[in-house]
Amino acid sequence: MRPTQAPFPATRLRRTRRTPALRALVAETTLTPGDFIWPVFVRDGEGVSEPIHSMPGVNRLSVDKVVEAAREAHALGIPAICLFPYTDPALKTEDCAEAWNPENLSNKATRAIKAAVPELAVMTDVALDPYNITGHDGYLEDGQIVNDRTVEALVKQALSQADAGADIIGPSDMMDGRIGAIRSELEARGHENVLLLSYAAKFASAFYGPFRDALGASGALKGDKKSYQQDPGNANEAMRLIERDLSEGADMVMVKPGMPYLDICRRAKTEFGAPTFAYQVSGEYAMLAGAAERGWIDGEKAMMESLTAFKRAGCDGVLTYFAPAAARLLNG
Ligand code: PBG
Repeated sequence: MRPTQAPFPATRLRRTRRTPALRALVAETTLTPGDFIWPVFVRDGEGVSEPIHSMPGVNRLSVDKVVEAAREAHALGIPAICLFPYTDPALKTEDCAEAWNPENLSNKATRAIKAAVPELAVMTDVALDPYNITGHDGYLEDGQIVNDRTVEALVKQALSQADAGADIIGPSDMMDGRIGAIRSELEARGHENVLLLSYAAKFASAFYGPFRDALGASGALKGDKKSYQQDPGNANEAMRLIERDLSEGADMVMVKPGMPYLDICRRAKTEFGAPTFAYQVSGEYAMLAGAAERGWIDGEKAMMESLTAFKRAGCDGVLTYFAPAAARLLNG
């Protein structure tokens, strides 16, 4: 229970807000570069850094440039980088076999980063959308996304990522049973130390638009993802998904998108106490970066405020495209 507070004027809550020193003493929430996972887009080629027009300041990087980014992340104190491949449309197929090709872009980038900056944790994404001619995270059969056949493919994809050296695997597909299936495969194949960061509460969101552009998956996408991603109004269902994924062997859970879903972050942390992350997604980034570019908001202040809010809501960390910019500011 809340201790009783003396009435005004004995209690003046502005006393602790008067100077920076006093404010620092009573600060409840701290933000450090150690709170960030930096998502980066990988493409083929060499020496390439290609701007993504709906995400000002974010580029698709060739593997050599991703390695440079990884070095930068490590120097800034960012503990992890997360890879998303922009796949040549010619490699997209019905069976999505490129997803478990040991030589695919994601696996090449993982190996290159682990060779150059072994201390940096590499996270990879499990879902078929970068490789699927339909743009979906799972197989489409007769107008339906099929669950169990998709899970078999996701298991192969996850194994190829672990073989390439991924430290953290992030299933973002929202199929049922994939965490358990991937966990058993990793155990059986000697990858018992690979972490699973489950995109457990992932909502069918309009805020993923710029990401789908970045990945070249928006043109391809047939229909929407509502048969596997959640209804934005469902909070109890989010708790059931988180509980389910933890029970199947997820080490950490994610809520996605972030800012419109801080109540879900808070509930997840309070109800389960597991390491909890939010994904400040591409559309959130675009809103802040776009408004800042036009001078409508102070970009740096809005960025830091949004990131602090995730910590206040109970998140242990945030996947954010702002990671390097925020870390630079924090490091002074
Ligand atoms: C799909 C995936 C998406 C994102 C990460 N993984 C998009 C989607 O579900 O359509 C979105 C990330 C972002 O918007 O920044 N597997």
